[in-house]
Amino acid sequence: MSSDYNPTPHVIPEGENATPLGVVGGDCTESEKLIIIMCGLPATGKTHIANRIVRYLSFFLDIPAKIFNVGDYRRKLHGAQLPANFFDHSNEEFMAKRLQACDMALHDLIDFMKQDGVRVGVLDSTNSNHSRRAHIRDTLKSLECKVVVLESIIDKEDVLESNIRNIHLNTPDYKGIDAAAALKDFQKRRENYFDVYEHVDNKDGSHIKIINNETFVVYNVRGYLSQKVVHFVMNLHLLPREFYLSRHGQSEYNLVGKIGGDSGLTEAGLEYARRLADFAKDVVAKKLVVDEVTGEEKSEVRPARLWTSTLRRTKETAQFIKQESVTFKWDNNDEVKWIQFRGRARRNLDELYAGVCDGLTYQEIKERFPEEFARRQEDKLTYRYPRGESYMDVTLRLEQIVMDIERTREPILIVAHQGIHRLLYAYFMGLPREQAPFVSIPLNTVIELRPNAYGCDEKRYVLLSKEEMLKDGQDEPITSMPMQELADRANSHTRSTSIDPMNPPSF
Ligand code: F6P
Repeated sequence: MSSDYNPTPHVIPEGENATPLGVVGGDCTESEKLIIIMCGLPATGKTHIANRIVRYLSFFLDIPAKIFNVGDYRRKLHGAQLPANFFDHSNEEFMAKRLQACDMALHDLIDFMKQDGVRVGVLDSTNSNHSRRAHIRDTLKSLECKVVVLESIIDKEDVLESNIRNIHLNTPDYKGIDAAAALKDFQKRRENYFDVYEHVDNKDGSHIKIINNETFVVYNVRGYLSQKVVHFVMNLHLLPREFYLSRHGQSEYNLVGKIGGDSGLTEAGLEYARRLADFAKDVVAKKLVVDEVTGEEKSEVRPARLWTSTLRRTKETAQFIKQESVTFKWDNNDEVKWIQFRGRARRNLDELYAGVCDGLTYQEIKERFPEEFARRQEDKLTYRYPRGESYMDVTLRLEQIVMDIERTREPILIVAHQGIHRLLYAYFMGLPREQAPFVSIPLNTVIELRPNAYGCDEKRYVLLSKEEMLKDGQDEPITSMPMQELADRANSHTRSTSIDPMNPPSF
């Protein structure tokens, strides 16, 4: 045997840079096809949960997943603004109309599920009693799919109230209607369900119950995908919360336009790091509360977390953030000693590795590896740098990070990199994966994301302006978002807050 004999240990898939990932869609068998029937009183977060499940499955597992919202069919069939008594269960005419909307949604769900390949369909509606759920199961009987009922129960008044105000009064049902009148009508609508609502039990077959985001019941749920859903919803919480994405400050490599590497920060990078420390103290670790005696708003310290990558430039960016020891009480009254912003360096947050191109400028890559350069321009999502990574590869290592973000209740400041934040942003904003490599994540900017039922509210804080830097080194040829639709969508969620460098930041 010659000394350079080196057989490939595994079969290399189509094309040198193909993505041989178990990103799992292709690996699942048809028998994993799954239908989730949502169930729960109005304002218990069903649509929020359904949206998050669908986003998780499509973004991380590449599973076609779709929600069939019966409310949308009702609005199409019978108009958006219907009086509360449309939901009166003793009114036969209205009950028939509601069943008609349910059956239309079921019809489309069935068509969707019949298509080839593994897929997940979600029927989003109150589905409030056994007979309605039995009707649905019966209608789906002929399909060879797993069916799981997912019930959301919330009986905490403050959570319900916040759900109603934040979500329901903003739906098309109440568009243009005075807030007080909308609230009154919605309360009446909910009351119509109280007498007839029947909780899910074993008669409903396989099911998951989420009670106040604290107690979980999982009954007879089998199969890979169903268990993935169980794991996901047990990590999910819908309480109002924010997290913050920041790239590292300008690095030595940014300055000269090189990608990757493990360089330290420039002077401008260090200045950003100092401003980020103020931002962390004044925004991330603060919450507004109403003083019970005076009724005035005041700010209070809240427990906050800090994650960085393991690379030098993110650690240096976080270096001025104070790590004080404080004592907090959780909502269950447990007291905890907490270190504010105790840094956690996570390897999964390291920048997309550019392999043989690491440490080069884009111009140098173009000259030395023109074919590679062209291929990346063609398909930036799946392109893998020789001996390096693709955005798809990075997606895989971010699944754990996303699960941790979903689970965490305290605000998190995540100091990482352009490629990493593009993927996190795309996932949380509900953008398709294909758009992720083009999302704009500028230096010197903190992006605040606050998840809602349909995506996230977003606010951008520019802590250091371009003029304050020598050169930001972002000479990458295709960083901008090419799709108008994407830009419009981002704008509709974005409020940008620039910090005037002449005035010390007071957030
Ligand atoms: O230029 C900064 C940087 O973080 C590089 O280290 C990384 O390779 C690049 O951005 C990722 O962006 P793109 O995928 O657009 O090349």
